[in-house]
Amino acid sequence: MKPRVPAFLILAALVVAILPLGLGCAPDEPETVKTGTIPADTFDPKVWGDVYPVQYDLWLATAEDRPAGESPYKRGGDEGKVVYDKLSEYPFMALLFNGWGFGVEYNEPRGHAHMLTDQIEIDPSRVKTGGACLTCKTPYATAMREEQGASYMADPYLEVLSRIPEEHRELGVACIDCHDNETMALKLSRPALTTALESIGFDHEGATRQQMRTLACAQCHVTYVLQRDEEMKPVELIYPWQGSSEGAITIENIIDVIKDEPSYYEWKQGVTGFKLAFIRHPEYEFFTAGSVHANAGLSCADCHMPYTRVGSAKVSDHNVTSPLKNELEACRQCHPSSIEDLKDQVVQIQERTLSMTNRAGYATAVSAKLFETTHKAQESGEKIDQALYDQAKELYLQAFYRTNYLGAENSLGFHNPSEAGRIAGDAVAMATQCQALLRQALAEAGVSVPADINLELGTYLNNRGEKGLMFDSEVELKDPTGVQDLLTPAESLGY
Ligand code: HEC
Ligand code: HEC
Ligand code: HEC
Ligand code: HEC
Repeated sequence: MKPRVPAFLILAALVVAILPLGLGCAPDEPETVKTGTIPADTFDPKVWGDVYPVQYDLWLATAEDRPAGESPYKRGGDEGKVVYDKLSEYPFMALLFNGWGFGVEYNEPRGHAHMLTDQIEIDPSRVKTGGACLTCKTPYATAMREEQGASYMADPYLEVLSRIPEEHRELGVACIDCHDNETMALKLSRPALTTALESIGFDHEGATRQQMRTLACAQCHVTYVLQRDEEMKPVELIYPWQGSSEGAITIENIIDVIKDEPSYYEWKQGVTGFKLAFIRHPEYEFFTAGSVHANAGLSCADCHMPYTRVGSAKVSDHNVTSPLKNELEACRQCHPSSIEDLKDQVVQIQERTLSMTNRAGYATAVSAKLFETTHKAQESGEKIDQALYDQAKELYLQAFYRTNYLGAENSLGFHNPSEAGRIAGDAVAMATQCQALLRQALAEAGVSVPADINLELGTYLNNRGEKGLMFDSEVELKDPTGVQDLLTPAESLGY
């Protein structure tokens, strides 16, 4: 399938390409010399690499180990360790996500080359849903969808994997995912994104080059829901953006879409028994929701694929990674500060975000435990005031999805610091109010509840899944301000 690019778009792209980025500080862009042709439907990056060897070599480098410990909140810093257990880093997540795959194994992201292998190696409970899990991980997903429609999503994961040509069963994001083979212009290959953009009235065909440098990433770095049928089989993959507009896909709107739609419920939370949806890696939504950098016209590629010189060639750095693992080269094209100062700025933002996310996470976890107590009381015949219960549940869901969102966003707040503060503040207030209502309802029913709720984190952190994963005491607890100790007295950590 070759997407048709109208001639006026190519012309528009050329015109835009010779204009400066619109940011006074932006450097000249790379000049591309095409030395060969790439046939349509070429999945194999090596063939693209014959024509564009420099980009190909940089792309290959996403498989390399990343230097550790640049941001203390991103990586534990222990050399050689490449997969990080997010549940050990944030124990409240083990409690909140208990009940399905994310509560079993949830890791920090690695380089693009690993995306498919990391998924194959993860605990089988994470890919139980089926072929849907491959939608973002293999360039073949779009072709499968064209051939058999959305039904591949419900087929067993390993069966769908086996339909990919053997030599590409470990291939992650490839040139064909982001580029048109003839013009090399950026293109969107994931139908879920184009549908979602239409739903918010964003005409992606008329997107500027700078917008495309963000949308290419929004093919995967977005949150999505897997709509399920009555047997819990996935039938469609949807970005929950209805009711939002470009630059304002807010957490409030996302919650409005997912909270009361049973076909979006993907799992049952162990502690509360509530059926819930789930929020994943909302980098695009969070960054574009009025961040300083988005407002200044930056794209994802500006920071994650800065121009770089390789020999005599000047190219976009296809070794996509954290700017902190690349000497903040991207930032220095605009900010004259030293590497150290820039790094400190990033880490400070992350520190504040983490402190607030922890508050929100533990407050939500305490609410979840109070629901557990409430449900036990109901089971043993105590009468719980329904109005208080309903109000508490609404507040709980609001707090839960906010906490879920902050924990899933991969920059730890950097992409939009003030938005992170706003969301975390609301989550803390909602979870705290929820606790007050449940305590009142329990008190009225004559059930006494201790001041300190034992979160029993050890129960959720240990013996997880088929691999029997345990709390990893070598992973530093992410607690920059000591707030975790305050919120969860040592005895309740219990691991
Ligand atoms: C086809 C889906 C897809 C596309 C398109 C995509 N990503 Fe990713 N990205 C992923 C997945 C999946 C991971 C996590 C891989 C893992 O942990 O195995 C990831 C990881 C990352 C990481 C962490 C890398 C590291 O070295 O730790 C960064 C940064 C990143 N992506 C940025 C981007 C940017 C910027 C773009 C657009 C230019 C982009 N991604 C496009 C799916 C995608
Ligand atoms: C102004 C620069 C900037 C822009 C623009 C930007 N990012 Fe980031 N991004 C960062 C920084 C800084 C971090 C934190 C990296 C760290 O802690 O190591 C980060 C972290 C990430 C991570 C996690 C990386 C890791 O190592 O775990 C991903 C994924 C990511 N960004 C994707 C995106 C996407 C997608 C966009 C566009 C929607 C985007 N970024 C826009 C600067 C930026
Ligand atoms: C995740 C998306 C993504 C993938 C995968 C990807 N690219 Fe790119 N590529 C980009 C972006 C973003 C740009 C910058 C485009 C712009 O500024 O208009 C770019 C630019 C280019 C350019 C123009 C010159 C330059 O360096 O800016 C070439 C050539 C290129 N890529 C080749 C490749 C090849 C070959 C592969 C596979 C080995 C590949 N790309 C994989 C996103 C991607
Ligand atoms: C293309 C230019 C550009 C790049 C690249 C860029 N910035 Fe910025 N940055 C800006 C502009 C413009 C502003 C807003 C005006 C100002 O305050 O200077 C800004 C604001 C900031 C702020 C204050 C606002 C906030 O969000 O807290 C910080 C901190 C910052 N940048 C850090 C970074 C870091 C770290 C990087 C690299 C990961 C980076 N910037 C990359 C242009 C850029």
